[in-house]
Amino acid sequence: MTHTKQSIIAQLAQIRVLPILVTDDVDQAIRCVTTLAENGLPAIEITLRTPNAMTVLREVVKACPTVTVGAGTILTPAQLDAVRETGAAFGISPGITPVLAKAAADSGLPYFPGVGGASDLMLALEHGFNVVKLFPSDIVGSVKMAKALGGPFPDVRFCLTGGVTVESTPQLLQQSNVLCVGGSWMCPAALIAANDWQAVALLAAQAAAAGK
Ligand code: 3PG
Repeated sequence: MTHTKQSIIAQLAQIRVLPILVTDDVDQAIRCVTTLAENGLPAIEITLRTPNAMTVLREVVKACPTVTVGAGTILTPAQLDAVRETGAAFGISPGITPVLAKAAADSGLPYFPGVGGASDLMLALEHGFNVVKLFPSDIVGSVKMAKALGGPFPDVRFCLTGGVTVESTPQLLQQSNVLCVGGSWMCPAALIAANDWQAVALLAAQAAAAGK
């Protein structure tokens, strides 16, 4: 599937919940991503927080061609390059640095930097990024922060991530400049380790419903 930044943003605006997966096992990752997609969540952020993450990403991209598979926790330009080689549709970072922002802007990979406040957002905008991850959302203020930043930055849209739950999702999504929320609550490590795909399916369906 060919993805553009605009098509990814349009999809996030529709599903409004982006699952965040942390796993080092290729088979479990494919099974989990398939289960999430079958239950209403056809886009995923796979974090680079495990030693085997690039392989996981590459294999999920191959095995799940109808899912929009992105990489999260990109911290360096070298990781950004490696992510591009996996065929991932997009990249996300928990924060922003001038070096990484420039590399991402130059790379052409659809990319969403992380911000924690106004200065980060100004740096993001200097590099043309007006859709950003607000992280860690529950600590930096979630809706209040998104609302306050909407004053000086009316064209920015946020993906709120970090501490989001199925219960908090509907309220977070009511804020007009919140594009979507992201989180790991529908694919927790314990259920993945237990291969409990029925439980993941149920959590995914609930998350997808909370995004409606
Ligand atoms: C992230 O990478 O954005 C967070 O780890 C996701 O936060 P959560 O695990 O609290 O949902």
